[in-house]
Amino acid sequence: MTCFPIDLVREQFPALADQGRIHVDNPAGTQVPRRVADAVADTLLHHNANLGGYFATSREAGAIVEQAHKDAATLFGAANWREIVIGPSMTALTFHIARALAPTFSAGDEIIITGMEHDGNVAPWLVAAAHRGCTVRRVPFDAESWRIEPAALDAVLTPRTRLLALNYASNLTGSINDVAALTARAHQVGALVYVDAVQFAPHGLLDVAALGCDFCAASAYKFFGPHLGVLWARADLLRDLTPEKVRPASNDIPWRWERGTPQIELQAGLSAAIAYLDWLGAQSGDATDPRTRLANAFSAATAWEATLAQTLIAGLKSLPGMTIHGITNPNRIFFRVPTISFTHEIIAPATIAKHLAADGIFVWSGNNYALEVVRQLGLPEDAGVLRIGLAHYNTAEEIRRILESVETAIR
Ligand SMILES: Cc1ncc(COP(=O)(O)O)c(C=O)c1O
Repeated sequence: MTCFPIDLVREQFPALADQGRIHVDNPAGTQVPRRVADAVADTLLHHNANLGGYFATSREAGAIVEQAHKDAATLFGAANWREIVIGPSMTALTFHIARALAPTFSAGDEIIITGMEHDGNVAPWLVAAAHRGCTVRRVPFDAESWRIEPAALDAVLTPRTRLLALNYASNLTGSINDVAALTARAHQVGALVYVDAVQFAPHGLLDVAALGCDFCAASAYKFFGPHLGVLWARADLLRDLTPEKVRPASNDIPWRWERGTPQIELQAGLSAAIAYLDWLGAQSGDATDPRTRLANAFSAATAWEATLAQTLIAGLKSLPGMTIHGITNPNRIFFRVPTISFTHEIIAPATIAKHLAADGIFVWSGNNYALEVVRQLGLPEDAGVLRIGLAHYNTAEEIRRILESVETAIR
């Protein structure tokens, strides 16, 4: 795609029609294309039944749910759609898995969390560690590269390491880890690797086969879908671990991991979000393979986002008193997602956020649940940072207005 079809893209998202609202709260949740809302409504209006019946609406709902798992498998690069578990959120799914893994840990075993984690990939492991008497070890991110360096991981891996909780892309600094390399190291000592891909998934194509990890979790509402969490896990783990479930529920994977009645209409929305990405990929060629179309979608989106991010970073850097907490070197722009966090030497993040909100610019301030990151940065936990998170539907004109508003906020 030589020219990103930004107008066509924006037309897909009804929320973007209002030019007075600039949506750069994307790391906390993206807007949805119309087709996502349509799919949710169509399911509720025409295919609304519980699963497992002989009648038409029940069979239609069952087909929607199975299709959502198949579509998610395509998005994650999973060969087997039964390795996809869908639940209310990444956090809920991670607590669920941690609860099932805990009995496999023994006192004195070690769990590693990184300095880049969102608490959704920390708290579940802290609870599991506390239950089993495991030691929690921390691996900091590198102050220069903003990533987890393999040598730093090596320093904490031991034969007792049972699990590495690994962030793919930080929801605060935006930096992207070399998950495949770090996973390979953890596997050398026999540890499982649980990857939090929530912030990578809206910006790059997941490929669990290439990553080599054991678990990989994302949130559909961060990649233009409805409020759902999606987990890929190795089939043997899903079969061998014991989930907490009601007795009559199926013991087959993935259903044994999906507690209670699923959010069937939202799963239809998940399929529609992935269909949107497929559509985006189809704008840049006539690839017949769905993975190639998704790869095309993300490479076009990434190139567009990188240009916007560079303009935003350069503009913020030119303002007095600013510290950007993340990669700013344009040569390393592809080592980050376009989530840019900063602090000002005098004006508090919340003050700047309120000023931006009044100008119709939607951002988040605070620690954004990235407690580990804020602590490593030595920032006050409540105040945190001001975070501007771009998506592929943002524009250069929006960046100009954001910079103008930030400048007046700190004046
Ligand atoms: C990196 C990261 N991990 C996990 C989560 C939690 O996702 P969910 O809201 O689906 O539980 C978030 C949410 O912001 C996140 O940014």
